Amino acid sequence: MSKKIRFHVALVATILLAGAVGFAQSSGEALYKSKCQMCHGAKGLAETPAAKAMKVKPITDPEVKGFTEAKMVEAVRNGMGKMQPYKGKLTDVQINSAVSYFRTFLK
Ligand code: HEC
Repeated sequence: MSKKIRFHVALVATILLAGAVGFAQSSGEALYKSKCQMCHGAKGLAETPAAKAMKVKPITDPEVKGFTEAKMVEAVRNGMGKMQPYKGKLTDVQINSAVSYFRTFLK
């Protein structure tokens, strides 16, 4: 393989990899915005009318802060309070990525 071709192969691989990582992040964000935001709010603060009606706790609530990532994934899979179970509707990968996005509001 000539040096030039090898360089191109490496370049294409890098671009593909960067694209895949970018997609994983934005898909969690896109999912959160389309499926979760109406009840948990744009920043997890549960300030929407639906959140108030369903008594969703904001992410700043000590009880929510105490949730591990695994416990959150479980709450979303199996449902909690008025939140419906998402298993069967979203894949585990989708639930994990939506929860990771939700957890970015913890900071
Ligand atoms: C119909 C409104 C509604 C939608 C849509 C919704 N939730 Fe919830 N969620 C709730 C309610 C109500 C609870 C339980 C009350 C509480 O503790 O906040 C809850 C609890 C949680 C919890 C447990 C920790 C916490 O905040 O109490 C997590 C994590 C969570 N939801 C994430 C999600 C994710 C991720 C999505 C999108 C896939 C989602 N929710 C969609 C209403 C909703």
